Amino acid sequence: MKPLDPIAYDYSDLIVPKDASSCVRLTGLVEADLKWLAPRLAAARQEVFENLAMYERRASVPEEMQPLDAAFFDLPERLMDEDRPLLDRIVAAGDRLAKEVDRVLVLGIGGSYMGARALFEACCHPYHNEISRQRRGGRPRIYFEGNNLDNDAVQGLLDLVEGADDWGIIVISKSGGTLETAVAFRVFFEALKTSCGGDREKLRRRVLAVTGDTGRLHELAEAIGCQDVFPIPDGVGGRFSVLSAVGLLPAAVMGLDVQHLLEGAAAMNERFRTKPPLENPVLDYVGMSRLMETRRGDTIRVLSTWGKGLESVGFWYDQLLSESLGKNGLGATPLTVVNTRDLHSRGQQHQEGRRDKLITNLVVEHTAREPVTIERSDLDQDKLNALSGKTYQDLLRAAFTGTNQAYAEDYRRTATIRLPRLDEGSLGQLFQMLMVATVVEGRLVGINPYGQPGVEGYKKNMNAILRGK
Ligand code: PA5
Repeated sequence: MKPLDPIAYDYSDLIVPKDASSCVRLTGLVEADLKWLAPRLAAARQEVFENLAMYERRASVPEEMQPLDAAFFDLPERLMDEDRPLLDRIVAAGDRLAKEVDRVLVLGIGGSYMGARALFEACCHPYHNEISRQRRGGRPRIYFEGNNLDNDAVQGLLDLVEGADDWGIIVISKSGGTLETAVAFRVFFEALKTSCGGDREKLRRRVLAVTGDTGRLHELAEAIGCQDVFPIPDGVGGRFSVLSAVGLLPAAVMGLDVQHLLEGAAAMNERFRTKPPLENPVLDYVGMSRLMETRRGDTIRVLSTWGKGLESVGFWYDQLLSESLGKNGLGATPLTVVNTRDLHSRGQQHQEGRRDKLITNLVVEHTAREPVTIERSDLDQDKLNALSGKTYQDLLRAAFTGTNQAYAEDYRRTATIRLPRLDEGSLGQLFQMLMVATVVEGRLVGINPYGQPGVEGYKKNMNAILRGK
C-alpha cells in the first residue's frame, strides 16, 4: 500500500496577533470571529449529513432543496466496498483499452472532463504524449476534445488519428445530450469507423461510454454495442463526479492508482466527519474563506498553485465553485494562477491592487523526480555561480516564502493548502476536501450547491438559433 500522508490546510497567517493595533486587526481575523463561526460550521456539517440521509432514504426532497445530488459524498467508500465489482470493471476496461490502442480521445465537457484532465496533468509525465510508449508505462497518449466548439482544434486532432488504426474513444456525458460532446463524438466516431474498416467487433471495443442510464448517448452506445458502458450514479452531479467512472476510467487508462485516489478521498471524509471546527480542513477552509469574504471583502478567491502540474486542478476547482455557488447574485469568484509564472503577469495586481482577494496557496512538499541543481560554470556572466548547488525546489521555496512575506508586509494575508506529494492519494484528499467544502458553504449561506440553472440559458438560445426555432 502506498503511504497516505494527510494534506493540511494552514490558516494561521489569516489570524491577527492579539496585541495588533486596531488598524491591523481590520486586515485579518480575530479569535472572536472564529468562535462566532464554529457552531455555524458544525450546524452546516450536520445539514450535509442530513442531506445524505435524506437522499439515501429516498425521502421526498422539498422543492427548494432540489436537485439534491448528495450521493457523491460516500462514493469513494462505496466503490471500495459494496460497489467493488464496478470499480474492478472500470480498471479492467481501462487496462484493456490501454493495451489495445496507442491514442485515446477523451470526449466530455465541464464536470465530465475537468477532473480527468486534472489527474492527467498532475500525475502523468509532463510530456506524456511525446515520450515513448515504454516510458509511458505502456499507456496510450491521451487527448481531450468535445470541450469546445473549435474547428481548427478538431481538424488538428483528426490529423493525428485519421489513417491510424490504433486509437479509441472514451465519451463522457451524464445527460448524453450536451452539444459540444455529442458533435465531437459524431465526428470522431465516423473517423474511427473508417479506421476500423468495417470491423464491428473492433469498433465496439474501441468506444467506451460513461453516461446516465437513459438518454441519447446511452441509446447510441447500445446501438454501437459498446463492450464497456459505465453509469454515472444517480445523485452524483457533473462537477462532483471526478471519483466516479467519469474520472476513474480515464485515470485507469493512464495507469493511475485509482484505489489510492479513493483512499485519499475516504480519509478526507473521515476527517470531515470526526474533527471539530478549527481542526477540520473542510470546515476550516469554508470558515476562513467565508469570513475573509464577508468581513474583509475578499470576493475573489485566488488559488495560487506552485507547480505546473496543478493548473488543471485549479481549473477543476474554478468550475466547482463557480457552478455551485455562483447563484442568486452571490458566490465568490475563483481564479487559478500558476507560480512563479503568473508572478510575472498577475503578481503586480495581487501585491498592490484592490484588496478584494483571498490568496490560498496550493503547494507540494516533495517533488516526484530527482532534483535539478544549478551547476558551477566557467561562464559566470549570469552571476549564477553564487547560487550553485541550489535546486529548483530551493528556488521555488524561496519564491514562495518571499511572495507570501511581501503580501504579509502589506497586510495581505494568505492561507496555504499543503500536499505532501503530487500523487493520487493527495489528489483524492484534495478533490474531496474541496467538493465537501463547496457543499458546506452552500448550506451555510443558503445556496443550493447542486444544479446549474444559469447554464441552460445559452444552451436554449444556441439550440433555437441552430434549429431555427
Ligand atoms: O457540473 C455539471 O453538472 C456540468 O458542468 C456538466 O458536467 C457539463 O455541463 C456536462 O454535462 P454532461 O455530462 O451532461 O454532458
